Amino acid sequence: GSFRSGELVNADASAVDRRLFVDEELYRLEQERIFAKCWLFVGHESQLEANGSFLTTTMAEDPVLVVRDKAGKLRGYLNSCTHRGTKICRADSGRSSTFKCPYHGWTFNSEGALMSVPRLGQVYGENFDRSKHSLREVAKIDSIHGLIFATWDPAAPTLREYLGEMTFYLDLMLARMEGGTELLGGLHKWTIGVNWKIPAENFAGDHYHVPVTHGAGVEMGYRSQLSNDGYCIHTGNGHSIGSERGGAQQGHAVQTEYKGFMDNMRAQLVAKYGEKAAAFVPVGVGTIFPNLSFMDTARFRTFRVWHPRGVDKIEIHSCLIVDRALPEDLKREVRKRYSLAFGPSGIFEQDDGDVWQSIQDSMRGRIGRQGWLNYEMGVGREGPTVDRYGPPFVGSTSDILMTEANQRAYYRQWAKLMTEGDR
Ligand code: FES
Ligand code: FE
Repeated sequence: GSFRSGELVNADASAVDRRLFVDEELYRLEQERIFAKCWLFVGHESQLEANGSFLTTTMAEDPVLVVRDKAGKLRGYLNSCTHRGTKICRADSGRSSTFKCPYHGWTFNSEGALMSVPRLGQVYGENFDRSKHSLREVAKIDSIHGLIFATWDPAAPTLREYLGEMTFYLDLMLARMEGGTELLGGLHKWTIGVNWKIPAENFAGDHYHVPVTHGAGVEMGYRSQLSNDGYCIHTGNGHSIGSERGGAQQGHAVQTEYKGFMDNMRAQLVAKYGEKAAAFVPVGVGTIFPNLSFMDTARFRTFRVWHPRGVDKIEIHSCLIVDRALPEDLKREVRKRYSLAFGPSGIFEQDDGDVWQSIQDSMRGRIGRQGWLNYEMGVGREGPTVDRYGPPFVGSTSDILMTEANQRAYYRQWAKLMTEGDR
């Protein structure tokens, strides 16, 4: 259950061992060293507006129940009864102050306490201690601009520390307008047969694939041909973001009313963060380590989690996030644009899913799982972002869009966490 540093990801992460995507033992180790340690995305505050509301999701493979308790505090629990382990909540979301287990009826409240046990005195006697059977609670839960994260690790840094310099880009993406954002229309959930890191590294910085994988979409004029003029920024702790320059203007032609809205948004951004930062909005595509990715374009913003379901399977939860201030008819329009391109029916999503699936298939066999994959594009072209763009820019950047700098940063973080337990 251990390996040496440098064994699976070389020193500058320009080569990554194929076993990362197929090895069962590594997958088991990831559960301990990555998913039980990192902050993981569990939902959006707009899903838990009222006190007593709840949603269910997973943190890696662990089912969790996220609630806003009677006092308005966010809490997260393992969605598993302390009697025999049954899921105490089966609904995706709703509002309830109690959760009654469907097996024998133990009932918990939104503070996680075991409130009642059927026939308690009769079947257990008077000495049964209900207080010892509270739900298992996450170690920490916190939110930023509506995004809720939780971690099982009591020694984890604060969410702000964990996100580090990525918070600057989250400000630009989610605090750009008065009123903030909301999750529109629930979640798309579907399953594909790929390792969870394949889509995560794609969103972290794979701009190279766009003209090829999405060639048909480009030809149909759905999006312009990608230029190599843009930025790839690694903000620390494995978090990355990248975009072509001028991406901000691309969607403006789509609709006059939308343009008016975007201009208003830009004015608010300039007032808050200055001209230079405003020019970086929409901020582009990125991944927050380990498995939350996003895409912020002029047409829509999607956030998605690549929930691992075994070494070669993920359940994707994808959602659309919009500014609350966006008029209703434009919200519908944005939703249409998102569904055309992404989500289970989206043409770009299907392009990506097909390629990712074939990666997994090619590495399943005895020979295919041996050897290394190449990540050396753009080695040596990174420098401090602030040197290139001036303040307030943060992180380290490359002067070209098509580089694998962000993927390298991603796998360096992966290797760091995976070998840390061995010291
Ligand atoms: Fe929940 Fe028995 S498993 S009450
Ligand atoms: Fe893609």
